[in-house]
Amino acid sequence: MYINGEWCSNADDETITVRNPATQKTIGTVPRGNTADIEKAVKAARETFESEQWRTFLPDERGRILYKIAKKIRDAASEIAQMETRDTGKPLSQSQNDVEAAARYFEYYAGMADKILGETIPIQADVLDYTVREPVGVTAHIIPWNYPIQITSRSVAAAIATGNTVVVKPAEDTPLTALKLAELIEETKLPTGVYNVVTGYGNEAGAPLINHSDINHITFTGSVQTGTAIMQAAAKNIVPVTLELGGKSPNIVFADADQDKAAEWVVKSIIQNAGQTCSAGSRLLVQQNIKEDFLEKVKARMEAITIGKGEDDHDLGPILTEKQFNRIEEFMQIARKENVNIVTGGEGVEVEGAETGFYFEPTVLDNVKQESALTQEEIFGPVVSVFVFENDEEAIKLANDTPYGLVTGVWTENVGRAHRMASQIRAGQVFINNYGAGGGIQMPFGGYKKSGFGREKGLEALRNYTTLKNIALKM
Ligand code: NAI
Ligand code: MG
Repeated sequence: MYINGEWCSNADDETITVRNPATQKTIGTVPRGNTADIEKAVKAARETFESEQWRTFLPDERGRILYKIAKKIRDAASEIAQMETRDTGKPLSQSQNDVEAAARYFEYYAGMADKILGETIPIQADVLDYTVREPVGVTAHIIPWNYPIQITSRSVAAAIATGNTVVVKPAEDTPLTALKLAELIEETKLPTGVYNVVTGYGNEAGAPLINHSDINHITFTGSVQTGTAIMQAAAKNIVPVTLELGGKSPNIVFADADQDKAAEWVVKSIIQNAGQTCSAGSRLLVQQNIKEDFLEKVKARMEAITIGKGEDDHDLGPILTEKQFNRIEEFMQIARKENVNIVTGGEGVEVEGAETGFYFEPTVLDNVKQESALTQEEIFGPVVSVFVFENDEEAIKLANDTPYGLVTGVWTENVGRAHRMASQIRAGQVFINNYGAGGGIQMPFGGYKKSGFGREKGLEALRNYTTLKNIALKM
């Protein structure tokens, strides 16, 4: 672990095994952090935050250091990408994209470090009223296992740019790159105690962090269940939270769309990271009169997908753990019980030379009922469910009829329709004739409904990590 600029293990030297999902073979261990470690890390972050050195640290100097971190990430990109692939199982080129995104977050927020502005507010002639945006203090970051280096970087870079000090708790299954980041940060002039990492399980290291009375903000990406636990913990200490809790995001394909483009992205958006993506396109809403043709296109593409170890950079890598694999299997049992039409896939698959890993076929489900768990819950695997609609109204109704609202893709050549759809869809991001716009460091990202609240990415994220003070001077 990395606490107050020092590398440490837990007091009893207990560890967690780190596995490569390609084969589930052990690739290392990390400390099994606990309450005592969290105490140390929060104390370090607090003392640093209150220190003269950090209070008077120049914003432009913070920016320059963040630029350096971005450069160090790029210089070590190949090593970090390989580490991320060994840790998460994702195809190497996807890890490379994640590492570049991580560098971009540091770069983007580096540029903002000396542009956190207040306002002057007219009150009366002899009153000077102005606002300042101050850092919130010590920020806690609970990171999921699906995009470790990216998700760590996106909130940590914004938090440090605005002058906070941070404690990161990476996912127990994928702790390596948050530690690698510490190694890179250690080589810069960032004061010790600004970036701290405590590895460990959710209940042993995560819980004491979110319940700690001396943190000032919690950023979380992960399941609704853990999101609820985080809000409850935060409620006790009146701590603001930013929650990004996944989705059931639809691609809505109209008859007038460029069908080949749409089919390409319908597949990409559910295959990326084996569907273990908060913004995965896990529902396909297709207009009735093109359904048959369009499904053919999707099916053909799904069946051309290559499956294998992340290191070998196939289209589709392994599922993270047996537990996640079993979760997908449970959804397939529901599909069979509900007489869903499995258009393609539906089974686990053995990969030669990686028989001990857990792989799942790219899967398309048709005739899924609207009220089914397959429609309403996040499967988190390479599984897309198909629904048909006749007109705009039906499309909107279906699109909005889940507990989530993270991302939506709208595919149509009709600009008016595209904007009407965009205005009526309850989701944090709407993409028209694309899906994801290449990652979008600059685009505010977050959800409606159970997808959470608060926005990460873009300038909008800076609000999470600052608090506003109004100052009035009577002249
Ligand atoms: P999770 O939400 O339990 O884990 C995410 C992070 O929260 C990990 O770092 C974990 O250690 C931490 N955590 C767990 N319990 C905690 C607690 N009581 N206090 C503080 N931290 C805690 O997700 P899990 O169990 O790994 O995956 C289950 C499902 O959650 C997935 O199948 C998927 O549907 C969803 N999920 C969604 C993600 C997204 O990107 N929106 C990411 C990961 C999971
Ligand atoms: Mg969990």
